[in-house]
Amino acid sequence: MASGAVIGDGNVTSIPEGFRHWTFLGAPLTPNGLNGGAAGFPEFHHVYIHPDALAEFELTGVFPEGTTIVKELVLMHEGGYEDGSRDEPSGRGFFAKSFNGIDMMVKDSDRFADTNGWGFFNFGHHEPPYAETATAASAAECASCHADNATTEMVFGKFYPILGQN
Ligand code: HEC
Repeated sequence: MASGAVIGDGNVTSIPEGFRHWTFLGAPLTPNGLNGGAAGFPEFHHVYIHPDALAEFELTGVFPEGTTIVKELVLMHEGGYEDGSRDEPSGRGFFAKSFNGIDMMVKDSDRFADTNGWGFFNFGHHEPPYAETATAASAAECASCHADNATTEMVFGKFYPILGQN
């Protein structure tokens, strides 16, 4: 099933073309203003899933092999208040501005058996251009925290109402 990234030799892959046209799962936010000024990921986390994978998940409740989920970090417009928020015509809040990094996870139960069946990839935490390729990260870097805390396989499904997990 073509549901996202293609993993090559040595567990190297690249960012799937057109992922911003996939289904938008949601946008968790952990701003500096709520994290002592030093959030690990102070941006919006825009999360996308390949639509074929989502369709199959809706039928079976299981992510199909090859499921690819991309999380793109998105910086906010500078805040006028100490907590980083600002006033806009809709109210005081946080407003997305520009792209700032990509993390990705891909389900392949055989290849990534050591990390609960999902490979984790980081293409840089900075503005584009992102890294052309990434190699699967170690369990300690990524998968262990997902294994300990995620709610839907290795995915934080409870933050994405479209998955219907709450
Ligand atoms: C300390 C815990 C922790 C570590 C380490 C971690 N993550 Fe996550 N990750 C989360 C949490 C919590 C979310 C969902 C909420 C959010 O984005 O703030 C998430 C979300 C994601 C998502 C979106 C899908 C989902 O499960 O919600 C991807 C993709 C992702 N992480 C990839 C990675 C990659 C790649 C690494 C390593 C470079 C990594 N993560 C390391 C905690 C972690």
